Amino acid sequence: MKKRFGKTDLMTTPIVYGCMGGAGAFGAQEETDSIEALREAFNIGINFFDTAEAYGGGYSEQLLNKALGDKRSEIVISSKVARENLAPDRIIEACERSLKNLGTDYIDIYMLHWPNRDVPLADSIGALKKLKDDGKIRAYGVSNFGKEDIDDALALGDISVNQLPYHLFYRTIEFEVQPKCEKAGVPIMCYSSLMQGLLAGKYKSLQDFPVDRARTRMFDHRKWPEVAHNEEGAEATGQELLDELWAIVGDTGMSMEELAIGWLKSRPAVGGVIVGTRNGEQSRGLKKLLDVELDTSVLERLTKASDPLKQALGSNIDMWGKGRTR
Ligand SMILES: NC(=O)c1ccc[n+]([C@@H]2O[C@H](COP(=O)([O-])OP(=O)(O)OC[C@H]3O[C@@H](n4cnc5c(N)ncnc54)[C@H](OP(=O)(O)O)[C@@H]3O)[C@@H](O)[C@H]2O)c1
Repeated sequence: MKKRFGKTDLMTTPIVYGCMGGAGAFGAQEETDSIEALREAFNIGINFFDTAEAYGGGYSEQLLNKALGDKRSEIVISSKVARENLAPDRIIEACERSLKNLGTDYIDIYMLHWPNRDVPLADSIGALKKLKDDGKIRAYGVSNFGKEDIDDALALGDISVNQLPYHLFYRTIEFEVQPKCEKAGVPIMCYSSLMQGLLAGKYKSLQDFPVDRARTRMFDHRKWPEVAHNEEGAEATGQELLDELWAIVGDTGMSMEELAIGWLKSRPAVGGVIVGTRNGEQSRGLKKLLDVELDTSVLERLTKASDPLKQALGSNIDMWGKGRTR
């Protein structure tokens, strides 16, 4: 089930466990639940864990250490340096902090979390190269790098990954970034693969989706107080997609998570599909996703159903529309 991750020598499962929600990104969270969620993800066979210093200010990394520190040699860890820390000396310091939080002496994949044009990218990549030469990280990469940023990064270094928002409700990377990653042999790690729970089969209507999660470019900024962008969104088109997904669930007998994750696994350049959970029971629910593969006819139906929303949202890859990507 494990495959070599891009050009690295890391062997990883197709499902990556996302550690953000366990640190409280989605509201009140018991530590015992977060730890059980991590352990159960490992127990069902996931060996790849994605975290970041930004998730709970290091708390997410500490939780990973608490839950699976004794399994270090059996797991692959990716972490990220926050965009305000991309100056070279700050990257080195941030990496040392993350190593301490994680209770390890190496990080398998270390990423720049978001681009920061106040710091020359060559300087940031230089620091990543140094960390790799010093054995503190095994590979490095980027996250949220759009069509221009990824060109700059590819010209400068040995980029092992681009972590990007990608799911049936957000196919913006397909216009320009995904083809570039595919051509360069850079695997994509998809995030928000279940659209923060919308694709976990709990909602019949977009109106029922929690307001603090309804902040992406699909939602109308005038309706939802949490929204940071100024776009009118595409809620009617999104609802049509949700309705069609429920119809496909009914016709195939598959769960919505299986459809969502099976579709992502089939897409070009995808090297890992990140999914986050909040407790042990949800983590056990990921077992079926490790092996899921969809028939071509189902894949085509999902692609067709999500095409109108893809066209409506266009090529802006910043899911929250905060103007951080290019
Ligand atoms: N690079 C970046 O900028 C970036 C940004 C965002 C995320 N990420 C990464 O991607 C990871 C995942 O993305 P995400 O946190 O946005 O969300 P996600 O994986 O799309 O959705 C997570 C939510 O799905 C629901 N869920 C998952 N498994 C379930 C199950 N078996 N049964 C029922 N519900 C289930 C839970 O919802 P409830 O909470 O309602 O229970 C959970 O909180 C993060 O942890 C992080 O590692 C990276």
